[in-house]
Amino acid sequence: MNKLIVANFKMNQTPSETNKYISKFLSLEKNFKSQVIICPPFTSIYSFVQNLKNRGIEIGAQNCFFKDYGAYTGEISPKMLKASGVQYVILGHSERRTYFNESNKIINQKIKAALANDLSVIFCVGENENERNKNIQNDIIINQIKESLKNIDNQEIKNIIIAYEPVWAIGTGKAISPIEADDMCKLIKDFINKNYNYNQTKVLYGGSVKSGNAKDLFKMPNIDGALIGGASLDVEEFAKIITIAENFNF
Ligand code: PGA
Repeated sequence: MNKLIVANFKMNQTPSETNKYISKFLSLEKNFKSQVIICPPFTSIYSFVQNLKNRGIEIGAQNCFFKDYGAYTGEISPKMLKASGVQYVILGHSERRTYFNESNKIINQKIKAALANDLSVIFCVGENENERNKNIQNDIIINQIKESLKNIDNQEIKNIIIAYEPVWAIGTGKAISPIEADDMCKLIKDFINKNYNYNQTKVLYGGSVKSGNAKDLFKMPNIDGALIGGASLDVEEFAKIITIAENFNF
């Protein structure tokens, strides 16, 4: 299976910075063989769709609401995203859980709305440092999956990618060891397989991935790719990670 590389720009890049990023990216791109999804802020989605979509790069959003239309000031609906050329949406990211109080229940509503609009979901799970110290990470992850994927059926599961992102490794430079990351990705795959009778779910690792540690992570059999924050903002570094991933495609 080819590795999947997802960029999460978070709240970074003005439209003019995006234009520079895109020209640089196009000058480096030789025809990437890995599947690449870029999730810029909403205000840069149009430029990415216009310039990269027909070059084999897929575009995702970082959030959406769970209604299609209405009086929800400041929100963006999955219907609007789909109509803007977006194919993926990140949901359940720990920054949304922490700063915007998103519960598993809200994430569940968002996942259902995204799937109903024919978007694929990059669903994030992860334990915090305290939970890891208490060694309860497995229970935390399984509970996040159970609650956030409530009433998702065996067909819908096929449009969900799961990203395992230990909260303590996000943006800290402290990536988890490849073996521990692999164990967690396997736990997730086994759970999905057992409960949905589906063994093709892609599970990504996220948290301080960079070109220096990508190879060791991609070597692991249960890590299908990476969700990359900080390192994706540096176009050369991001292209390097994509190239590293290509060595593991078969
Ligand atoms: P990071 O972020 O690569 O900057 O650690 C990953 C993420 O939050 O998705």
